[in-house]
Amino acid sequence: MQILVERINGTADVNDIVKLFDTSFVPELHTRVKNLGDYARKLNEYGELYVAKKEGTIIGFISYYMNDQITQTAYISLLAVLPEYRKNGVGEKLLSKMEEHARCEGFKKIGLEVDKNNNVAICFYSKHGAKFIREKSGETNYMEMLLSSTS
Ligand SMILES: CC(C)(COP(=O)(O)OP(=O)(O)OC[C@H]1O[C@@H](n2cnc3c(N)ncnc32)[C@H](O)[C@@H]1OP(=O)(O)O)[C@@H](O)C(=O)NCCC(=O)NCCS
Repeated sequence: MQILVERINGTADVNDIVKLFDTSFVPELHTRVKNLGDYARKLNEYGELYVAKKEGTIIGFISYYMNDQITQTAYISLLAVLPEYRKNGVGEKLLSKMEEHARCEGFKKIGLEVDKNNNVAICFYSKHGAKFIREKSGETNYMEMLLSSTS
């Protein structure tokens, strides 16, 4: 499958992507944030967003923040692939893009939160070296992966 990964910015585009993938999350994203529009605006202003495209159609995305210069930890806020395109390496391509970006900017680690019962995502992140760090809340765990100095 020929997949292109490209950066998106602009509140309107980020908003469209967040809406497109709302139902790709369990529970759906709009049930987890107060307001999807505000969430997209914040993401556009302070974060980064890359999409995966197949023949011009968006099939996956990753969003993340690279603001924590003190711990040099980049933070994945969302990662999703449309259900019909999963298990084809699209998630891995998106994560690789983020890793490359974070490494270039001098970050040493990637942090993320995952629902304790999201076994697919836990398997995915564990496959890429993420380790359990601590319980974040009753429902989520915080995991981290180290970035090697070379890709
Ligand atoms: C997590 C997610 C992004 C993975 O994307 P993907 O494109 O399917 O992943 P890839 O094809 O690159 O990687 C496949 C790996 O993911 C894991 N994985 C994917 N589907 C799995 C499944 N049904 N059961 C167990 N592990 C699974 C495995 O580690 C697998 O590696 P393997 O093929 O060697 O077993 C995708 O399942 C998704 O969008 N889930 C819903 C949204 C979500 O939960 N996001 C994460 C929290 S923000």
